Amino acid sequence: MTEHVCIHEVGPRDGLQNEKAVISVARKVALIDALAASGLSDIEVGSFVSPRWVPQMADTDLVMAALGDVVGLTYAVLVPNMRGWDGFVAAGGVGKSYAIAVFVSASEGFSQSNLNCSVADSIRRLAPVVDAATTAGIAVRGYVSCVAECPFDGPTPPAKVAEVVANLRAVAPMPVSLGDTLGRASPEQIVPMLAQVLNMVPPHELAGHFHDTNGHALRNIEVALEMGLRAFDSAVGGLGGCPYAPGAPGNVATEDVLELMARLGYHTGVDRDLIATAAQMAKDMR
Ligand code: HMG
Ligand code: MG
Repeated sequence: MTEHVCIHEVGPRDGLQNEKAVISVARKVALIDALAASGLSDIEVGSFVSPRWVPQMADTDLVMAALGDVVGLTYAVLVPNMRGWDGFVAAGGVGKSYAIAVFVSASEGFSQSNLNCSVADSIRRLAPVVDAATTAGIAVRGYVSCVAECPFDGPTPPAKVAEVVANLRAVAPMPVSLGDTLGRASPEQIVPMLAQVLNMVPPHELAGHFHDTNGHALRNIEVALEMGLRAFDSAVGGLGGCPYAPGAPGNVATEDVLELMARLGYHTGVDRDLIATAAQMAKDMR
């Protein structure tokens, strides 16, 4: 039987958060609907973060209000603190097909830049969010950024990544997405980092989140597949970047990941023609 790989689409969040132009709720919803039609099982649609920090995500509640339930599809939003959780609840996420994601950094410099606090404080701050979500029956995913390199601190030691993953999962067991936020890592950095993390976390609880600055993202996905990972984040049309990680452009494009999976013989359940249509919509937004 063909093995399944889960594609976690992050374009409407990780992609659009970095766009300079204001994008209307209607255009965001049209993009998400186009993605939803393709058979994806997970789409990240926004963030409940400070609108002063990331103005592009300030309308996430309105986006949520406009989205319909799709069988087999989970929408996800980023939630950094209890204020964000309250926003998610007020937007009606509980009781619907939503998950949340909490996010920390493996490096102190990016943690300060992105969350205005230390790594340890960010984990303390997200603990009540994880508690509240668990009580409400909402699944939680964790992100760890800068798993290879930090724009402020330089290379991240694999042992540091493993330590932060362990501290995050000590809050509650959760799947963790490992982010090469700068997109400059090659398999030479990814393999030792994954080896350290895999000492503690089984591969089916990990995802690869590779930005694609230096064109290594697909090779990084291939080595991660060889090491047992079966979930990868990508952004339709290669949208993306983090406004608080200078020099970090787009995520690996969903259409490129789907082509790789088809070539390697993995099943994704995602229609490549429908993703091509959504990719054109994403490109027209820039
Ligand atoms: P802060 O300024 O330290 O927070 O920001 P604060 O608690 O001092 O609050 C300051 C003000 O923000 C207050 O308002 C709060 O109410 C408000 P005021 O009283 O001044 O009017 N506030 C909020 N408003 C709305 N929603 C909230 C919220 N929290 C506080 N949730 C904070 C701390 C976390 C809010 C801020 O640093 C922030 O929003 N950071 C988010 C940055 C972000 O979204 N970055 C991009 C996503 S991460 C990413 O892209 C990486 C990833 O893709 C993986 C990878 O590639 O590596 C996931
Ligand atoms: Mg990212």
